[in-house]
Amino acid sequence: MSELLAELVIQKTEEFVKDSLEGDSGHDWWHIHRVRNTALTLAKEEGVNELVVELAALLHDIADHKFHGGDELLGARVAKKWLRNFPIPETTTNHICEIIAHISFKGAGVSTPMETIEGQIVQDADRLDAIGAIGIARAFSYGGFRHREMYNPDIPPVMHSSFEAYKNSKGHTINHFYEKLFLLKDRMNTSSGKKMAEERHHFMVEYVERFKNEWKGLH
Ligand code: ADP
Ligand code: NI
Repeated sequence: MSELLAELVIQKTEEFVKDSLEGDSGHDWWHIHRVRNTALTLAKEEGVNELVVELAALLHDIADHKFHGGDELLGARVAKKWLRNFPIPETTTNHICEIIAHISFKGAGVSTPMETIEGQIVQDADRLDAIGAIGIARAFSYGGFRHREMYNPDIPPVMHSSFEAYKNSKGHTINHFYEKLFLLKDRMNTSSGKKMAEERHHFMVEYVERFKNEWKGLH
């Protein structure tokens, strides 16, 4: 594929994504922007097909199941339809859509394997944006969007064993740290992603500890 065509597809896809996203401020264009940049950083370190990484990062939340009645394959279908506008090899389009279909976290007890290094990179970049300082902000933004309690010490976290159970949980936001965010560092695929995740993880653990101490009126 020519450099010029690649540039055009990326630019048009960027516009398409900006026009299509919905949801809370944790799922807006800036999330896509951060995931794209992190994915490209990881891609440089791992040496891979950067076009696939960049397009999959741009399109990965194009129709998130949380905002579309739980249909978790809709994103891949929307992306496929969009990419048909360009003369891209079918193998490239299929690769990108495969990544979008498999990127999401589906519960503590549900594995979400990624077959290709490009997919592993985009999944790592998406998960890195769910932890650390930004991850904390996104969790409370989502909780607010859904009118959830920030915390309720009477309701303990649940380790979901199916995607169905995870999708339907309506718990308070602090539980989301135990049910997903604290688990992400051990689910990173790439070694550079793992390193970045460690630091963000520790910051988040300390944050929740402080949150709970303040809740109890302690120092
Ligand atoms: P993925 O990108 O793996 O599909 P999600 O789209 O479920 O993950 O999560 C994206 C963001 O929304 C994350 O930052 C996550 O913390 C937040 N989020 C998702 N579900 C909840 C929830 N139940 N409570 C608080 N935040 C949530
Ligand atoms: Ni995402």
